[in-house]
Amino acid sequence: MVTSSGLDSVVFADTAISHVDGDAGRLVIAGFDVEQLATTCSYEDAARRVIEAGGGELGMLGPARVAAWQMLPQLGDALAAQDAMDALRAALAHMHSTGRSPALASGDDLRDAVAVIGAAPVFVAAWGRLRAGKTPLAPDPAAGQAADYLRMSTGAATDATARALEAYLVTVIDHGMNASTFTARVITSTASDLVSATVGAVGALKGPLHGGAPGPVLDMLDAIGEPAKAEAWLLGELAAGRRIMGMGHRIYRVRDPRAAVLETAVKPLASPRLELARAVEQAAAKILRERKPDRPLAANVEFYTAVLLDAVGLPREQFAATFAVGRMAGWCAHVLEQRRVGRLVRPASRYVGPMPS
Ligand SMILES: CC(C)(COP(=O)(O)OP(=O)(O)OC[C@H]1O[C@@H](n2cnc3c(N)ncnc32)[C@H](O)[C@@H]1OP(=O)(O)O)[C@@H](O)C(=O)NCCC(=O)NCCS
Repeated sequence: MVTSSGLDSVVFADTAISHVDGDAGRLVIAGFDVEQLATTCSYEDAARRVIEAGGGELGMLGPARVAAWQMLPQLGDALAAQDAMDALRAALAHMHSTGRSPALASGDDLRDAVAVIGAAPVFVAAWGRLRAGKTPLAPDPAAGQAADYLRMSTGAATDATARALEAYLVTVIDHGMNASTFTARVITSTASDLVSATVGAVGALKGPLHGGAPGPVLDMLDAIGEPAKAEAWLLGELAAGRRIMGMGHRIYRVRDPRAAVLETAVKPLASPRLELARAVEQAAAKILRERKPDRPLAANVEFYTAVLLDAVGLPREQFAATFAVGRMAGWCAHVLEQRRVGRLVRPASRYVGPMPS
């Protein structure tokens, strides 16, 4: 038996949903390069394509947002959680299988997929408003998912900010066999329901080594303040034994292609942080090259996520949950694909404890 603590070299599934080429720095989603998808597709189009790639057909997201909104009073104190990811996880967990309303999980994967993809932006935006002492804003079923999420969160969405956020949500919609997607597929393999799979996936995405990095990236940019201070600050982090957030990736050995897509998408918004981010990225790449010559460590998706989500006006506490809003369609597509595999995932372990004498 082969032991692999990170499962790096284990191919767990055949998938038609996305392909990550870590050496070439290429990401293909449902047959399209991420650069093309992010610049030409609405979130709805991209979600439809990944769900189709998973073997299903996606229903309308606008009515699903309204159904989720109507469910808010039934969420108890789920949205009172301190952390947006905890709130999203708890709110999704309320979508139990009664089948009474489209907002409640039906046990039917395609219906549940529409319900959770529509619900995520409503729950996260409502959490953000409540946290800021404001009243949640109702969804507009006629709006696009990205624009509606932004308006429900911030009270305003211009064409430019909605378009930038849409490019982000499309860019992160799927990404190979990452930890949260794997989690969703493992849960599905037990013949559990799609909502449970997405609840588990949110838990996996929450960790700072996966989806929890963009908030800390913005904290880092704030702490550095100006390009001239980047090198000293970064050296201090490494000396303290900490990693540079937004740098490095398990698969990519070159710059994450999504970093370039997001860097381009944020340009029209004239963010004051963009120049600083570029300078910090350059300094971090140089230092890490010197420190770890054998391990290429370049910017990952989270680096410019932080700049973009900040520039569209979302609070940093919502960054990781916004990643989940985008990734929800990818998780659902993988549930559909895994359902057809129909085999329980059950790896082996090696016992290293004592044996009874
Ligand atoms: C993403 C990440 C978890 C991938 O890690 P991984 O594939 O498991 O790589 P490893 O943990 O094996 O790291 C390999 C080496 O590079 C170093 N390294 C990796 N990322 C680093 C970073 N961001 N800053 C400093 N050093 C880093 C590790 O310390 C390790 O060094 P060592 O061999 O001397 O112990 C890692 O790069 C990281 O923690 N990045 C920061 C968090 C982040 O941006 N997460 C978002 C990911 S999209």
